[in-house]
Amino acid sequence: MKKFTVSILGAGSRGVDTYGSFMAECSDRFQIVALCDINPEKLERAKKILSATNISCFTDEDVFFEKRRSDLLIIATPDKEHVRQALKAMPLGYSILLEKPISADYSECLELLAAQKKYGNFIMVCHVLRYTASVRKIKEVLDSGVLGKIVSIDHLERVAYWHFAHSYVRGNWHKEKDSAPSLLAKCCHDLDLMQYYAGCRCANISSVGDLAWFKVENKPEGATDRCLDCKYSDTCEYSATRIYLRWAQNEGFRDLWPYNTITAEPLCKETIMSALRQTDYGKCVYSCDNDVADNQHVVMEFENGIRVYLTMMAFTYDGGRRTSVYGTKGELFFDESKNSLKIALFNDQITEYKLTDLEKDMRGHGGGDNNMIRTLYEKLCSVNTENQTDLEHSIESHKLAHYAEISRKAGGARIDLPK
Ligand SMILES: NC(=O)c1ccc[n+]([C@@H]2O[C@H](COP(=O)([O-])OP(=O)(O)OC[C@H]3O[C@@H](n4cnc5c(N)ncnc54)[C@H](O)[C@@H]3O)[C@@H](O)[C@H]2O)c1
Repeated sequence: MKKFTVSILGAGSRGVDTYGSFMAECSDRFQIVALCDINPEKLERAKKILSATNISCFTDEDVFFEKRRSDLLIIATPDKEHVRQALKAMPLGYSILLEKPISADYSECLELLAAQKKYGNFIMVCHVLRYTASVRKIKEVLDSGVLGKIVSIDHLERVAYWHFAHSYVRGNWHKEKDSAPSLLAKCCHDLDLMQYYAGCRCANISSVGDLAWFKVENKPEGATDRCLDCKYSDTCEYSATRIYLRWAQNEGFRDLWPYNTITAEPLCKETIMSALRQTDYGKCVYSCDNDVADNQHVVMEFENGIRVYLTMMAFTYDGGRRTSVYGTKGELFFDESKNSLKIALFNDQITEYKLTDLEKDMRGHGGGDNNMIRTLYEKLCSVNTENQTDLEHSIESHKLAHYAEISRKAGGARIDLPK
């Protein structure tokens, strides 16, 4: 069996905990040989997680890029580093697994595509949902024609109030200029799926939305800037003491997301309290300098007449996507949190699947993370076969987010998309 050597740039949650860990399990197919991260503690942690002794570690990107270190490079650094690092990797001849979003700057996406055309590297973008059994089943149903002519798609990305607070108020994606608009950061998968389901080019787009809640004017009277010291720490829904300390305690301080993103130390009461005292994860949600939208609605009209309504919503109890597809002969309803995919035809033929029957191992984006790595292996073995999340296809979702943001900032104007 062919084995590919792998380097990981960005030894964090995605690079190591997700892809690195699964690749370490598939040691007959992948061998992790190098790690690069600006944070030495992350490198130490990664070596433990990967049970690795023979891995070269780098904290300096320039030294890492002095030569090619492996067949494959995983780029799982923060969003704003992706394109710059991919442009360094390409001339070295790496095959690249590139985290999404490719870049918040659409012109950078196009620059990367031009470079790929020049150097010819294999690039797979981590649109992991494309690799889930449920998305494959939905696409199969839509393409089969049983729903008749598809008129409309309604898609809701339920972020969950605590997840939004973690990632988009306190965390890495809280400020547009440092990362990306929340629509791109949270919904570039969803935008990708909508154009995949619609099966053709989007002709025009419009969007409205804003930052409705996580602002200083909504801070309760007398609340402090850090939750640990706050008189509302037991009663506020968004209290960091509740979300990190109490929930982690209830989980027995297991090494789980999101607790393991707030500290590189092993989880326990003391390390979490120290993170809550020192990092942004301990801040009051009304005292963070966040600016990304917490609710956003997008309308897209595709060239084949399908109209898509997509919503990104912070204010939901739990997470999970919901998709309704309305056709002239029936409807399809997908509900991640209810573990259900239902196809109800107007001739009374009703089929319902449990998502967990379609996919046995639902870890990591409903199985998509590991399935993508399996597909990546196949593609690396025969690079000329179709790669459905190649750079060119994946950039389409970034284009939709880019023009949706232009529309939102222009008060919801409809924008005809350039070809
Ligand atoms: N595909 C998905 O569904 C999905 C899900 C979540 C996150 N992401 C994306 O994955 C990427 C990584 O996110 P994460 O959650 O793993 O974040 P993370 O913070 O856990 O990991 C990022 C790592 O990169 C390191 N780093 C920062 N700057 C660096 C640099 N210049 N060079 C080398 N290392 C550097 C950090 O120290 C950190 O260890 C982001 O782009 C994010 O948007 C994708």
